Amino acid sequence: MTVLATRLRGFGTTIFAEMTALAQRTGAINLGQGFPDTDGPAEIVEAAVAALRAGHNQYAPATGVPALKTAVAEHQRRRYGIEVDPDEGVLVTFGATEAIAAALLGLCEPSDDVLTLEPYYDSYAATIAMAGGRRRPVTLRPPDFALDPDALAAAITPATRLVLLNSPHNPTGRVLDRAELELIAALCRERDLIAITDEVYEHLVFDGEHIPLVTLPGMAQRTLTISSLGKTFSLTGWKVGWASGPPPLVAAAATAKQFLSFAGGTPLQHAAANALGRADVHGRRLAAELSAKRDRLCAGLEAAGLAVHRPAGTYFVNADIRPLGESDGRAFCWSLPERAGVVAVPTVAFYDDHEAGSHLVRFAFCKRDEVLDEAIVRLRALTPRS
Ligand SMILES: Cc1ncc(COP(=O)(O)O)c(C=O)c1O
Repeated sequence: MTVLATRLRGFGTTIFAEMTALAQRTGAINLGQGFPDTDGPAEIVEAAVAALRAGHNQYAPATGVPALKTAVAEHQRRRYGIEVDPDEGVLVTFGATEAIAAALLGLCEPSDDVLTLEPYYDSYAATIAMAGGRRRPVTLRPPDFALDPDALAAAITPATRLVLLNSPHNPTGRVLDRAELELIAALCRERDLIAITDEVYEHLVFDGEHIPLVTLPGMAQRTLTISSLGKTFSLTGWKVGWASGPPPLVAAAATAKQFLSFAGGTPLQHAAANALGRADVHGRRLAAELSAKRDRLCAGLEAAGLAVHRPAGTYFVNADIRPLGESDGRAFCWSLPERAGVVAVPTVAFYDDHEAGSHLVRFAFCKRDEVLDEAIVRLRALTPRS
């Protein structure tokens, strides 16, 4: 008997949990799930300890601790020139994940189509389904994963009401350029669409620059911008995230959020307020470190015989396994611990169009150099399958 509600059928355990469990079971090096293997900055951890000791241990206000909401508004103004009302224009959430879910639950009607880029971060498909909407993916294709204007136009239907965008983009590492964003903005203006943008990798850009969609003409009143502390500060377990934008969009997400978790993580919110003031400096340093790690892993994957699609941002790289005589990324990833003692993620897990992603495998490079080096040595021993 299947007890799982119909709308969640097909959303079993996430690929990240599956692959991390595989790494634990086999003792393989985990380049699957995207979490750093070093701790976040000591002074931010200390700020959390201080907040715990200072008695910030009860419910936060439902939309977040005021100091963090102010810090988010200041970050948006300082970095991008975006004006956000710190009171009604910011909602603090449990990670970007809850912000995405709250936004969709608060803004998506059951009859709505939601346009996304694919491959997509896996929570998008599940939360669109929970909101009762229908996803309409626009496929990004290697080698550059650029946005194809014809594919974008083809994905629009009379029922499209929302765009759920992610840039810098997981899993491809693509950073959308101004021309691509302008195409999306033009569509939003013409069709009166709401944009929800997931910008959790906003500080982790190596080539080009991150341009928030909300800064394009006509987008300020229709864009809800989402980010979080986890990626920028290597504190993924804290799950402090936020959405910012025009008060009606923020209020819609807040309405849903109050019945998901209401509020919490109060001491971590205080520490995050303290951290965000240093996001630019810290983000620059982390991006420089990650850029070197990207180069290290890309060179290693190439030496192992894979065709690498070099990312401009995030901490993921995709590789094409066909030069090794293989084409099934899932089978490759499941056999990789045994063959090479490494875990990676089959990128096809993030595509509806399986054909487009079946030969791609995603590796995370947010790991210590010695871990990457050991993984590279192991991968170089891979022999092509005849
Ligand atoms: C594109 C994208 N969005 C959202 C998240 C989740 O962010 P958080 O940990 O803040 O919930 C991730 C984490 O991997 C991600 O890659």
